[in-house]
Amino acid sequence: MTALTVLGSTGSIGRNTLAVVDSLNSRFRVAALAAGSNVRLLAEQAEKHRPSLVSTGDASSAREFLRLYSGPELRVVWGEEGAAEAARLEETDIVVSAISGLGGLAATIAAVRSGKRIALANKESMVAAGRLLRDLAARSGAEIVPVDSEHSGVFQCLAGVRREEVRKITLTASGGPFFMTPARELEDKTPEEALAHPRWSMGPKVTVDSATMMNKGLELIEARWLFDARPEELDILVHPQSIVHSLVELRDGSVLAQLSPTDMRFPIQYALTHPRRETPPLPVLDLAGVRRLEFFPPDPEKFPLLDLARRALGEPSSFSIALNAANELAVAAFLDRRVRFTDIAGIVAAVLDAHRGREADDLQDILRLDRDARRATAQWIPRR
Ligand SMILES: NC(=O)c1ccc[n+]([C@@H]2O[C@H](COP(=O)([O-])OP(=O)(O)OC[C@H]3O[C@@H](n4cnc5c(N)ncnc54)[C@H](OP(=O)(O)O)[C@@H]3O)[C@@H](O)[C@H]2O)c1
Repeated sequence: MTALTVLGSTGSIGRNTLAVVDSLNSRFRVAALAAGSNVRLLAEQAEKHRPSLVSTGDASSAREFLRLYSGPELRVVWGEEGAAEAARLEETDIVVSAISGLGGLAATIAAVRSGKRIALANKESMVAAGRLLRDLAARSGAEIVPVDSEHSGVFQCLAGVRREEVRKITLTASGGPFFMTPARELEDKTPEEALAHPRWSMGPKVTVDSATMMNKGLELIEARWLFDARPEELDILVHPQSIVHSLVELRDGSVLAQLSPTDMRFPIQYALTHPRRETPPLPVLDLAGVRRLEFFPPDPEKFPLLDLARRALGEPSSFSIALNAANELAVAAFLDRRVRFTDIAGIVAAVLDAHRGREADDLQDILRLDRDARRATAQWIPRR
């Protein structure tokens, strides 16, 4: 039986991962769970899946977890080091990296160093530390399998393809809730409207990123490191049906595409079972029912964060760290109603304009650059 550590088990990806584990009929078992503060759900998950180790966000949530938990004996740890311990766990074969934000980076690095398979959802880790994670994986033999649906699609298309024969990698974007909204109306969009995603049900931060299309910008950077792609090889197409997740164009003009229904359990399952395929308890794709598959070029004027991500893609890695940090704070401020929807891009642009780029060395350096970028961003965000 393959043993899993699920980092971010109480989140959207984490819960879907445990649903996939349930559906795969005892082929997988849960060795460790890590989450932040939702200890009630974490306790329920631990009682059901019986891991040997659980990590919580901090010491007080660990105490609260122990008060609520009534399953068999297990070890409880907490904080960044606790999540890293869950990732390194000897008995674990696959680490699902689904903590949101850079809070997941230390544990992702620990998993990569220990040479395990990483089912990677935490895109911020790849954005901020892509070069480091790639180099560490090359040394440890760790296999990074993407969970993001678009990157899972590329990963599947690239199986059996010679890398030097690839001409272009295209990630598709749903376009988010504002794809049809005129640019002049974006300014007044509320958090509730931004969170009403037409296709995907996800955590709040990634849903707002989808509305601004920054999600696709971050995914471009993620793809650069996952597939060793040059910036000019990467492209984006808006595809409102979200059925085609990615396209890989080959030297001879053939284009390979990966299609599946809009449900994260498909790419999560593939990241666990790869290279094997299993039958999920999910509806199969009914193309005759879908009928139309449309593709549009993205509108860079309406979604300026795409160009800002492209800019970071061509610069030293501290630009990607600053882009990610500035965006995270700006999105949080938007959700908190301290800035408008259209201010998110303005804040990120101001931070990048003032940024002096350099390559990041290691985890500590990445975290230092991230803190610096957050300080630089704070001056653009009104306090309450
Ligand atoms: N959702 C999707 O469909 C999707 C698709 C592609 C990629 N992703 C990426 O996958 C990651 C997770 O996304 P999500 O939508 O699942 O997010 P989410 O629903 O917000 O869940 C985040 C998870 O991370 C945990 N967490 C946050 N900070 C933590 C910390 N410092 N220490 C330990 N645990 C912490 C949360 O725990 P508590 O809730 O217990 O505090 C929760 O379990 C993100 O990087 C996102 O970009 C998501």
